[in-house]
Amino acid sequence: MKTIIEPFRIKSIEPIRMTTEEERRQYLKDAHYNLFLLQSKDVIIDLLTDSGTGAMSTEQWAAIMRGDESYAGSPSFTRFEETVRDITGFRHILPTHQGRAAEHLLFKVLCQSGQTVPNNTHFDTTRANVEYTGARALNLPVKETFDTSSKHPFKGNMDLNALAQLIEDLGGDKIPLVMLTLTNNSGGGQPVSMANIRSVSEICKAKKIPLFLDACRFAENSWFIKEREAGYSDKTPKEIAREFFSYSDGCTMSAKKDGLSNIGGFLALNDSELASRAEEFLLLMEGFPTYGGLAGRDLEAVAQGLKEVLEEDYLNYRIATMTYLADRLEARGIPVVTPAGGHAVYLDGLKFLPHIPPHQFPAQALACELYIHGGVRSVEIGSLMFGRPDPESGEEIPAGQDLVRLTFPRRVYTQSHVDYVLEVIEEVYARRSEIAGCQISKQKKILRAFSAHLERITAPSH
Ligand code: F0G
Repeated sequence: MKTIIEPFRIKSIEPIRMTTEEERRQYLKDAHYNLFLLQSKDVIIDLLTDSGTGAMSTEQWAAIMRGDESYAGSPSFTRFEETVRDITGFRHILPTHQGRAAEHLLFKVLCQSGQTVPNNTHFDTTRANVEYTGARALNLPVKETFDTSSKHPFKGNMDLNALAQLIEDLGGDKIPLVMLTLTNNSGGGQPVSMANIRSVSEICKAKKIPLFLDACRFAENSWFIKEREAGYSDKTPKEIAREFFSYSDGCTMSAKKDGLSNIGGFLALNDSELASRAEEFLLLMEGFPTYGGLAGRDLEAVAQGLKEVLEEDYLNYRIATMTYLADRLEARGIPVVTPAGGHAVYLDGLKFLPHIPPHQFPAQALACELYIHGGVRSVEIGSLMFGRPDPESGEEIPAGQDLVRLTFPRRVYTQSHVDYVLEVIEEVYARRSEIAGCQISKQKKILRAFSAHLERITAPSH
């Protein structure tokens, strides 16, 4: 059959409250044109993030009832530990309440001021946690990462020459670890190839530098390898995952993504000495090592979710949804990052609204318009998130890329929801020349995108 369907039926539903354009205009004005400040009840289709927003299966809900809430030695932890070990092959499994807590533990035990941590592209929390230790977080993506229309199958890859050169220049002791983010979220949800992971691993091994994977979307990355890389079409997503984990020394994980759970994460690693030091901080900040900031029921949900996320029918449907939307947008001439990412479709704000200069936040203006027109909440990944005002002149320094991320929660929306989103984008595109830019009226120094207040510039700038 040509049609790929959702490989599940719906047993429990959450109603969506329909709103009018007029109401949404008011809600957005009240939220100071910042979509993070909207109430979720005022959103029709919520594509803000795929983190912790997925739907759980009947088996996960059943597992939740089995959750054993003992402080120490809970069988729920044993099930969690066995599942993570079975997929990753790592010896030590430290549960954490979410991904950034695992990052915090890892960098605390490995990084020092004056060192550098390379990554294909650091996610914001990864960067912030590296920098918190005084080390430098450096992105080394391949050049195709930033070419929004390049059809390269693995735009998440790391630039191998740049990595080798960096190690040569700094010396291995200045690099406490190398990270690879699968898939590369900040670079468009693009996958990293097995060949690239293997090569990074060889470079690291030769210099005795540990390699860690940021494995938040490891299953989606496995699927891309299966579909796009020679020699993997007959392997299962789990076999593929086992192989790439085997090239690394450990991983950080947010179970809110490919753990198919609403909360949870872990740090997994082989080095016993490092694990024991990380465990000290785990005790201090998260909890006893057999629950680490989670309830027994959460550990159960994650253990079950990690099994379900590797099912081929699920991954096939998941990636097909992104491809469906991105391909149709591209066919209509709408500027979209291609190929589609694993968890999201990204619109190119600079090309969508060329009449709005970068310092007037075209991607944010577009995200606002998608909400007003159809109640679709997306997230700006551009100058509002990564730009900053010049410390002297106060003028905005744009980020270079200005994207709108349409991030799909797992197993939540149906095909007709996707068609609705497509229609909303098409209609906004048809009257794009009427859309005006934004300016910031209030902002914080750190992570301003979450709380900034904006105003819309009433007359278009051309
Ligand atoms: N690494 C990557 C690649 C991520 O995308 C995220 C979260 C994290 C680490 C941190 O995990 O949220 O569990 O602490 N990304 C979310 C997003 C928030 O919307 O992309 P966390």
